[in-house]
Formats: sequence, C-alpha cells, structure tokens
Amino acid sequence: MQKRDQQSGPVETKEKTTFFIPDDAHNEEIVQQLLPLHEAWSGVKLVPQNSYGLRVYRGATSLNMHIDRPDTHVISSILHVDHGEHDEPWPIVIEDFSGKTNEVFLESGDMLFYESSKCMHGRPRIYNGDYYSSLFTHYYPVEGWDEVYERAHALVPPSYTKRQEKEVEDINEEDAITDGTSVVEPACEHGWCGLRETVKWHGPGPSYGKILTGNGKVTELKGVPSERSFNKLSPMAANTQEVVIQGGDDF
Ligand SMILES: [Fe+2]
Repeated sequence: MQKRDQQSGPVETKEKTTFFIPDDAHNEEIVQQLLPLHEAWSGVKLVPQNSYGLRVYRGATSLNMHIDRPDTHVISSILHVDHGEHDEPWPIVIEDFSGKTNEVFLESGDMLFYESSKCMHGRPRIYNGDYYSSLFTHYYPVEGWDEVYERAHALVPPSYTKRQEKEVEDINEEDAITDGTSVVEPACEHGWCGLRETVKWHGPGPSYGKILTGNGKVTELKGVPSERSFNKLSPMAANTQEVVIQGGDDF
C-alpha cells in the first residue's frame, strides 16, 4: 500500500479527552475491506491511506471546524461504533458544496462518507455524555490527484467567491481564528456561525448498500461486496491493551 505522511493539520479540542486504541494490523485490514464501499460512493479508484483505529471521546470535548489534508484525506468516512445510552446527541457538522451547514446525528453502525479535504467539518458543540466512539478511514484517488492537488487554488469554482461575499455581509472576517486547517468564529455560539441555520439528519441511515445523500434521496451503491463478507473481518488484536490519550485530529 502506498503511504504518505500521516500527520494532518492541527485541530484543537477543548480538552484532550480523545482516547485512541492503536492496532496497525487491524487498521490495514479495515482500510482494505472498506475500499470497495468508498470507490462505489466516490466513483473513482482509490488508494487506501489509513484507518486510525478506534477513537473514543470522553468528557466535555469538542472539535473545531476544519478540513483534512488535501493530498491524502480526500475520500473519507466515519463509521460510528457506539455512544453512551444517555448521551446528549452529538452531531458532526459538515458544510456541503452548496454552502449549507448540515448536522448529522449518527447511530451505531451508520457510516458517513464525505470529502474531508473539501468540506469544512467538525464537532463544535460540546460533547455531554459517557463515551462516543468511531472509526475514521481515508483514501485518495489513484489517477491524477497529485496534479489536482498542485492546482487546487485554481480549481475553486467562481460561485465560491460569490458565496464568500455573501457570508462576510454578516460575519466579521477578522473574527475568524485559524490554526492550521481549523477555524473558530468566536463571535458565534459554539464558535461556528454556520450553526445558526442547519439541516439536521438523524440516523439510523438506510440499510447496507444504500446511501442517503444531502439532497434527501436514497440511492443504491453499485457493485459493493455483500454485507456478509464483512463478517470475515478479524476481531481487534487480543493483545491490544494500549490506549493512547491525545487531542483529536483527522476527522
Ligand atoms: Fe477531519
């Protein structure tokens, strides 16, 4: 598998209460097994970058809005594993290509596909619950991505400039604080002005092989492996006892 530098831009959490369970062998298996789903969703052949193991959030944490690194974290997914029974719902916030801000409330087993280097995303609302665990997986296109990456600044569509002009009418640009690829707007509640008007999506999503898209339509993924084929996925290594505590990144 082709690997690139796995470090991504810094993303701050309010408190460093992200637990990470490393298991490199298992991560490799996951990123390969999930490859056909990501290729079916994106419609392009992909290079597996990595899966980050199981992340577990605890405590009053949040994740600033940000984009992932554009060379390797292009087609990505979040598989939500589980959260506390009595947790307050904790949405992932994603700004889509039309400028709409979406709040997605995932349930266990839901998988969210997103273009993580293009769409601003994060969890700016403070988490209030026992635990929240997910699996994050990243890919980039086999063909031509290096070229696109080099020319990214020239590929911003003209409509985006128009949208930015509209946004700064009521948001003071100088109020935005950036750190790497993450952004906070302290003038707005939860540090993100887009939360003033959002579209909310609640899991569980449609059954395996079906996709609920941002336009509200459910479509079928073509040519994906059977659901049963995932039963062969090996359990996490029995000796995986190590737990790393760190700030969140690469979501
Ligand atoms: Fe991210």
